[in-house]
Amino acid sequence: MLMKAIIVYASVHHGNTKKIVEAMAQELGADLADITQKKDMDLSAYDVIGLASGVFFHSMHEEIRKLIENITFSENQNVFTVTTCGVGYCNYAKGAARKLQEKGARYLGNFQCRGYDTFGPFGKIGGIAKHHPNDRDKDKARKFVREKVKGMGKEKGRER
Ligand SMILES: Cc1cc2nc3c(=O)[nH]c(=O)nc-3n(C[C@H](O)[C@H](O)[C@H](O)COP(=O)(O)O)c2cc1C
Repeated sequence: MLMKAIIVYASVHHGNTKKIVEAMAQELGADLADITQKKDMDLSAYDVIGLASGVFFHSMHEEIRKLIENITFSENQNVFTVTTCGVGYCNYAKGAARKLQEKGARYLGNFQCRGYDTFGPFGKIGGIAKHHPNDRDKDKARKFVREKVKGMGKEKGRER
């Protein structure tokens, strides 16, 4: 079966997340949609949905959170998340993952890497994670979708 995939993203700070989702979309042959430009999206035709954004005050972008709140998943839809963050000390997609699972999506996991951050005091020191996402981050992102999305259902004993 031909898999139809889309990655919906918000990348508003420095375009960090956009760099990652472009690499992933190329690897997957997925459509890309910027949720800050187009709010009413019909995702019903997709087998795989990626939801991606920078991290803002420990959470995903508001528009992505709203989409998760409002969407209804069909039984066969698979969802993964992508977060880019200035300070990468925890998985910032935990809340989104919980919500997605509550709503019946098949959750494939989160890809996270650091992204150039000039928010608040970090801006005064020239920003942090200055050269991220870099080529290595993009390679890891491609590997994530190869393994988690293209390899869907191939792992032994995978449970729903
Ligand atoms: C208002 C604001 C709040 C942020 N809050 C966090 C945060 O809580 N934790 C973190 O690690 N990074 C935080 N960041 C940094 C961004 O998550 C990071 O730069 C991200 O890569 C931005 O992605 P984008 O360029 O795709 O929008 C924040 C940035 C801004 C502008």
